[in-house]
Amino acid sequence: MENSKIFSVLEQYKDNVKYEIEKKLLRIKSNHSYAEISLYGAQVVSFIPNDQSDLLWLSPLTELNQKKAIRGGIPICWPWFGKHPQNDELPQHGFARISQFALDTITNLPDGNINAQLSLVSTPASKQLFPYDFKLVVDITVGQQLKVSLTTHNTGSEPFAISEALHSYFSVNDISETHIKGLKNTTFFDQLKSKNMQDLSEAIIVTQEVDRIYQADKQALEIEQTSKPTIHITQENCHNVVVWNPWISKAQSMQDFPNNGYLNMLCIESANISPEINIAPQATHQISQTIFD
Ligand code: BG6
Repeated sequence: MENSKIFSVLEQYKDNVKYEIEKKLLRIKSNHSYAEISLYGAQVVSFIPNDQSDLLWLSPLTELNQKKAIRGGIPICWPWFGKHPQNDELPQHGFARISQFALDTITNLPDGNINAQLSLVSTPASKQLFPYDFKLVVDITVGQQLKVSLTTHNTGSEPFAISEALHSYFSVNDISETHIKGLKNTTFFDQLKSKNMQDLSEAIIVTQEVDRIYQADKQALEIEQTSKPTIHITQENCHNVVVWNPWISKAQSMQDFPNNGYLNMLCIESANISPEINIAPQATHQISQTIFD
């Protein structure tokens, strides 16, 4: 999207929305919080409620240069989660997080919140990866809470199936003092052991690499910490929750991840992975995740 078009969308919001051309980054100041959104991936990379610290974690080694997926914030995994089901050579977690989105609208809401709407439409290049017509809309509302909605429109004449995730990286002070609550008695697929298991604990405490896909249409989860306010997460229309922390050796193997970064981050992802979501021609499907402290 050309910069002139972006500035024409932003013109009337000069005071509370700035755009950094080189990084393709929107800086949004609502009455209640501050957020940054990269147009590359339609990815929120920072969310700071007034008088608080960032709820999201962004790797200090990631570069906002539109060449590689951004490590941190809220990446959008779409139209597939993880490896492509048939072809390992296609990009991990789909192509939304490595695509330039258009900025459609910015709206000042009456309650002092600010909404940004970004979109991605199918092109001949996207059809090499996913041979369907679509429009993907990312709707981000910045207020006391941060709400990210992902809407898939099937704009073509053939049905298609997707998997998807709002792959949020949360910032935590100390992983050893962090409790994830809300998944008790829930079955999960352990991606490291390739088997189904059940979580019986009151709270999950991460003490090693964790990569789990929970069968959970849980509406409410909490990240409880001793030295920081509890982070609340709600999700709509998702039947999975992914919990991921790379721990030591995986952290060391990722170039854009600091060796000790695993101590201060935790991914809690709102997802539909298994089963996939089928979307009929001209139909629409929407998920969302809301975070607040
Ligand atoms: C998680 C997956 O969602 O994302 C993990 O469950 C994966 O298996 C992690 O390692 C990070 O993926 P990527 O592609 O951003 O390194």
